[in-house]
Amino acid sequence: MAMLLLLHFVLAAAAAAARAPAAQAWGVEGHYMVCKIAESYLSREASAAVKGLLPESAGGELAKTCSWPDTERRQNPWSTPLHFADTPGDCNFCYARDCQGTKGEKDMCVVGAINNYTAALKDSSSPYNRTESLMFLAHFVGDVHQPMHCGRTADLGGNTVLVHWYTSKTNLHKVWDDKVIGTAMNRLYRDDLTTMISAITRNLTVSYYFWTAPSVRLHCWPSPKRRVQSGVTTAKYSGELRARIRTS
Ligand SMILES: *[C@@H]1O[C@H](CO)[C@@H](O)[C@H](O)[C@H]1NC(C)=O
Ligand SMILES: *[C@@H]1O[C@H](CO)[C@@H](O)[C@H](O)[C@H]1NC(C)=O
Ligand SMILES: *[C@@H]1O[C@H](CO)[C@@H](O)[C@H](O)[C@H]1NC(C)=O
Ligand SMILES: [Zn+2]
Repeated sequence: MAMLLLLHFVLAAAAAAARAPAAQAWGVEGHYMVCKIAESYLSREASAAVKGLLPESAGGELAKTCSWPDTERRQNPWSTPLHFADTPGDCNFCYARDCQGTKGEKDMCVVGAINNYTAALKDSSSPYNRTESLMFLAHFVGDVHQPMHCGRTADLGGNTVLVHWYTSKTNLHKVWDDKVIGTAMNRLYRDDLTTMISAITRNLTVSYYFWTAPSVRLHCWPSPKRRVQSGVTTAKYSGELRARIRTS
């Protein structure tokens, strides 16, 4: 129980911190970073519990498993709604209304999934596979901190908002998933993930976490232009990199 609470806090703090150099990238690198940073804050007891659940292929490293749910999702689309919690754009998240699968199945959103896999890990008699529960939980706590995973239903969490990122055409969701982190890593850290992780970790403090957390809520404006602007504002708050993003 204490281990789980710590893991939650650590993952949430790590996810917030992973935004630090304008990096909000929940592609493979983003998930790796969130989990890598979180791992370094685990107590010895929590670390042993986590290692005991990891698959052999992880080589004892939680971070290596943190994109597994995205692979699983491509093979088994049932889990797709568990990766996000979009809303109609009224700046309110209403669990009963917004946490549903496409056919109205209850609890099928990232918030329901975090509850589900937390409960499964706490309950030693749960029938769910504990290794998978851990990998899902570590992934979803990362996802829920990607602003476009708490976006608007109408534009599929920014997926249909077309933008330019530097010279490439892409969409707002991908900018947050991959582009910002890729650019930051390339320009500020010579494409070296380890250096980037160390730089973020150095800045990880509780006050930093609380300072950055509110930016997660900025992405529900009805107008696409406003949403792009709020994304840019968050990128600026998140670090020194000036996101060169504009609507198409
Ligand atoms: C760390 O914090 C300093 C001081 O606020 C800031 O200049 C720097 O960009 C931050 N680095 C990262 C990686 O967040
Ligand atoms: C809870 O976890 C089980 C086992 O992975 C899964 O079948 C179920 O769909 C999950 N529900 C939610 C809301 O995450
Ligand atoms: C639990 O899940 C892991 C990862 O998918 C798998 O390798 C393992 O065989 C599963 N264990 C059981 C008992 O099904
Ligand atoms: Zn995901």
